[in-house]
This record gives sequence, C-alpha cells and structure tokens, in this order.
Amino acid sequence: MKNLTIAIDGPAASGKSTTAKILAQKLGLTPVDTGAMYRAITLKVLRLGIDPGDEEKVVEVAKETEIWQKCVDGVLKTYMDGEDVSEAIRSPEVSEKVSIVARYPGVRKVLVKLQRKLAEKGGVVVEGRDIGTFVLPDADFKVFMKASLEERVKRRVKEMKEKGIEVSPQKVREELQMRDRIDSSRSFAPLKPADDAYVLDTTELTIDQQVQKIMDELKRRFGDDP
Ligand code: DC
Repeated sequence: MKNLTIAIDGPAASGKSTTAKILAQKLGLTPVDTGAMYRAITLKVLRLGIDPGDEEKVVEVAKETEIWQKCVDGVLKTYMDGEDVSEAIRSPEVSEKVSIVARYPGVRKVLVKLQRKLAEKGGVVVEGRDIGTFVLPDADFKVFMKASLEERVKRRVKEMKEKGIEVSPQKVREELQMRDRIDSSRSFAPLKPADDAYVLDTTELTIDQQVQKIMDELKRRFGDDP
C-alpha cells in the first residue's frame, strides 16, 4: 500500500499542514501543499503590482508561472519561477489576498492540472480545500479537518508569534472569517467535505492526538501496514 493517495482538506488553521507533513513522514509519502501554490501566484501578482481583482491579468500570471515543490531535509519548500518563496508566501499581505486569487476558475485550472500531475503516481499526502471533492476524487483516503474559529485564531496567532510576527487576534479572526466565507461560497470547487471523507474536529486535540486518530482510521481501513 505504499502508493496510497491521501487527501486532506479543511479551512485555514484547522491543522492540515502540520498533520499532512507528519503523516507523510510516518508513511513515507510525499507531501503536497496546494494552498502554497495559490499563495505563490498571489505573491507574484502583488510583486508585479497587479490588482488581485483583475481576473484576466491574474489568470495570465498563473499561466506564465512555474511552480514546484520539493522536500528539503524534511521541510517542504515551494518554488516560484525557480525562487524559493516558502517564507514570502506566508506574509500577511499574501494571506489577505489569496482567497480572491484562488476564486478564479482560470487560476484553479492551471494549478489543479499541476496537482493532479504530482499525484498521478500515488504515494502522496495532498492538502488543500478541494482535494477530496475535485482534484483527486478517487483518493484512497480523504480527511476533512475542522476546528472552531476561536481555536483556529489561537493557533494562527501562536504560529505567527513563533515566526516573530505580532498580529492582533481580532485581525486574524476577521481574516479567517473572510477566507472561510470566500473559500466556501465560491461557485467553482468550494471548500466542503467529500461525501466519503473522514471528518475530524481538531478543536480539542493536540497535533499528536489528531495524527494518531488519522493513523487509527488508516489502520482500520487498510490494515497494519498502510
Ligand atoms: O491552506 P492555505 O491557508 O495556505 O491556503 C491559502 C488559500 O488558498 C485559501 O484561502 C484558499 C486557497 N486554496 C484553495 O482554494 N484550494 C486549495 N486546494 C488550497 C488552497
């Protein structure tokens, strides 16, 4: 079962990224962070001084950008046109605009094609918003992670603090609410659990506990050696 394809979806700060990375390590699979791809396009749009609201120009940028991901010493790196942008794509400016860019079907088309290519041979843990429902509907195992808004605000504030960035909880709350709204209400591949997803509420769980729950479920479905 080494070629398992695992899809992990959920709202911002629900614990997807950390869980996907640990799961990938434990199972010897390759992690793919699709949110980072939407962020990389957004970063380029902002750097070029293009208005994220200008759909035509943004789609043009997406078509002309080369995005790649690679695990370096256990850390997943995202490259945009050959540049390592793993840090730059986490800036508050990118976080604020990424949902607008991710709404455009033209942008999604480009990135979904790349995501499917990365997953075509299996052996991947792909995290995002529409992986189980749209990008990889035949994934072997789909997880949908969720957590209360208050808990997600707490996690995001802590994460930013660890990076030396001070943010106000109120601002983080507003940003998460806005992104939840845009991500869930867009007409093309919105954020929602797949019918066959294993839904996991992580509000009361530590990272270890959430990973363990997923490992238990994997064992239940695929036996001792998933
Ligand atoms: O997971 P993240 O916060 O890095 O994702 C950034 C944004 O990208 C998120 O607000 C919605 C969008 N996104 C998406 O629309 N589809 C995906 N598969 C992944 C992310």
